[in-house]
Amino acid sequence: MSNIISLILFLLASIRGTSAAALPWWKPARDVAPVQKQMVETVYITKTTCDTTTFTYFPTSTSTTSPALPFSAQDITPTAVPPPPPTMTEPPTLLTISLVNSHTAAISTTHNSNAGAPPPASGATEPGTLAAGATAAIAVPTNWAGIISVNDAQFPVSDGNSLIEANYQNRSIEQYAIADLDVSYVNGFTLPITCSCNGVGVTGCNKDLFSLGSCSVPTKAGSCHNPLRSNTNATAPDPFFGPCQNAAYTYPSDNRANSQNECQNGQIVCCVGTSCPPSYKQ
Ligand SMILES: *[C@@H]1O[C@H](CO)[C@@H](O)[C@H](O)[C@H]1NC(C)=O
Ligand SMILES: *[C@@H]1O[C@H](CO)[C@@H](O)[C@H](O)[C@H]1NC(C)=O
Repeated sequence: MSNIISLILFLLASIRGTSAAALPWWKPARDVAPVQKQMVETVYITKTTCDTTTFTYFPTSTSTTSPALPFSAQDITPTAVPPPPPTMTEPPTLLTISLVNSHTAAISTTHNSNAGAPPPASGATEPGTLAAGATAAIAVPTNWAGIISVNDAQFPVSDGNSLIEANYQNRSIEQYAIADLDVSYVNGFTLPITCSCNGVGVTGCNKDLFSLGSCSVPTKAGSCHNPLRSNTNATAPDPFFGPCQNAAYTYPSDNRANSQNECQNGQIVCCVGTSCPPSYKQ
């Protein structure tokens, strides 16, 4: 008797066809849909720009770890960059990225290294806070790439933070590392950031966008989401982000904000707040 039941079940399973072949035979078809939907969403997250990915690896405000970034250096490094200036020099072994809090209150920071990148050689990289007026620094080796995310410390970590994106890739053309960085508001905006090298503000924008315009997608985490965060076709910023166009990334291909070869002395000083030195691009 049990053999006959097994045979009937086998035949039923066979009749179900190839689309359900990977599923147990007893799964009704209606159970399939949520699985497929979830897969589609996963693909969407991994294929879009870093802002959406940020959402996946900063899931809660209480996270105390810095998981590896699930995307490559190309995803966070703009591809269309100006040609290198002729006076390129071999940099020091370590690239130092300092963060100065010139905001009126404490800021919260998170650091993330790109998947596959060597970790920072020194400096605190756990999520933490930096008091008003305080400075912190990390030193990173050749082939490091990653992100520093900044918000006012009164708010939880957000997926729409102002970002510092940097990498120190050893390129085959030069055979040494090139300091490449930008300030990005492509995810969203929390606080103004500018970064300087040799005393020159090379990327970023020291304007407080909240005081200059109206945010169309405000969040409870004190950030303004950028509505163009995954629109690779955009050629102009959302009006809220307009005052910082060309200086910080205000849409995915706002590539003039990128700084390359301007920090070959290996010292980047990034500053948070409206009293920071402006970049020459704003
Ligand atoms: C960069 O790569 C070249 C080989 O392409 C190697 O000779 C050189 O030592 C590397 N430099 C650093 C700083 O890793
Ligand atoms: C960008 O443009 C391409 C080609 O016109 C189009 O297929 C794609 O849907 C557009 N993407 C967005 C986000 O508008």
